[in-house]
Amino acid sequence: MTNKPNLKPQVNKFSSGPCAKRPNWNANFLNDTNLLGRSHRSKEVLKVINEVNSISSELLNLPEGYKIAIIAASDTGAFEAAMWNMLGVKGVDVIYFEAFGSEWYKAITEQLRIKDVRKYSANFGQFPDISKVDFDRDVVFTLNGTTSGVCINDLSFIPKNRKGLTFCDATSAAFSMPIDFAKLDVTTYSWQKSLGGEAQHGVLILSPNAVSRIKDYTPNWPLPKIYQLKKKGEFNASVFEGSVINTTSTICILDALDTLNWIKDNGGIEGMYKRVNENFETISDFLKNSPNFENLCADEKYQSRTSVCFKPSQNWFKEMSEDNQRKFIDKVASILQEEKVAFDIKGYNSAPPSFRVWCGLTVDSSDIKILCDWFEYAYETARKS
Ligand SMILES: Cc1ncc(COP(=O)(O)O)c(C=O)c1O
Repeated sequence: MTNKPNLKPQVNKFSSGPCAKRPNWNANFLNDTNLLGRSHRSKEVLKVINEVNSISSELLNLPEGYKIAIIAASDTGAFEAAMWNMLGVKGVDVIYFEAFGSEWYKAITEQLRIKDVRKYSANFGQFPDISKVDFDRDVVFTLNGTTSGVCINDLSFIPKNRKGLTFCDATSAAFSMPIDFAKLDVTTYSWQKSLGGEAQHGVLILSPNAVSRIKDYTPNWPLPKIYQLKKKGEFNASVFEGSVINTTSTICILDALDTLNWIKDNGGIEGMYKRVNENFETISDFLKNSPNFENLCADEKYQSRTSVCFKPSQNWFKEMSEDNQRKFIDKVASILQEEKVAFDIKGYNSAPPSFRVWCGLTVDSSDIKILCDWFEYAYETARKS
């Protein structure tokens, strides 16, 4: 029997969104400015919005000519704004292997009602065959499957010269893994994931080809004001110069800036990749050596390094009904929560019964290591009860 571990994680927040705040986060940055209560159109707040956008562009190493903007309604808002503005010119290939990608597929077929749509999908934990994806069409995909623990770790399958646009939901990938933006025409993410920021603000990044699409094309469906990237028939460049479409939260923006500056002071983006890799190696070693757990994604090539999903590996678990499997997962999660060791570590609702531990850049590997010991203890305790 595994003894009850003596140590507890310093930070017990392992949720996959909103994710843990950066190490040593506090709200002091709010006292350093006199911006709350000021208009988001004021010169001073505009300066902060543009600072967030320019530090983000620099850290993400966006290619020349790429544009970045803050959009309402988090990643969902940014991704929907992109689809509603730009899809419909060509046939669309959708690659999905987790819950949100399947939502984008539904939006394309049921809301936008585009007729020529092909899907390449796989169940949770697996990656689809994408050999027939055609980049002369528009291609929509999620980069890191937060809900399935499956990730596209390499974008080399996307040709540099392509006739269609690539639409990438990088919600939980941006800042946590290297991204070759030259392969992406549309990228979205939200601060609440890798940055441990606040929700409800999305980020939209466009390549020059995506900008041309907006300039040259007017979709034949209605566009709510909140998604309009054109003004009087012209591309609204000012949205990408800090003039957001509707009112932003200055608290959220200052919070994002605080974390971006923390990244700069702590090894830059490479330092963050190193932190994520250490976290992933720690949990991955645990999963490889534990007799009781296995990664939901068996193929190492596609394993997510941030949202690590895993399940009990023993036959007794596999042979149980899904209902009983969920009860067991609940028990383990409750033990960890009651001990204040880990919060929010159950798999996504529609995922198979499993655990999910966020291993992104705001989490310390020493805490992941301690959590792994607790997992063995909680597993054995739940098994006996
Ligand atoms: C891959 C993916 N896409 C989109 C979203 C939605 O993000 P938001 O709630 O920031 O809109 C999530 C959230 O978990 C996600 O994991």
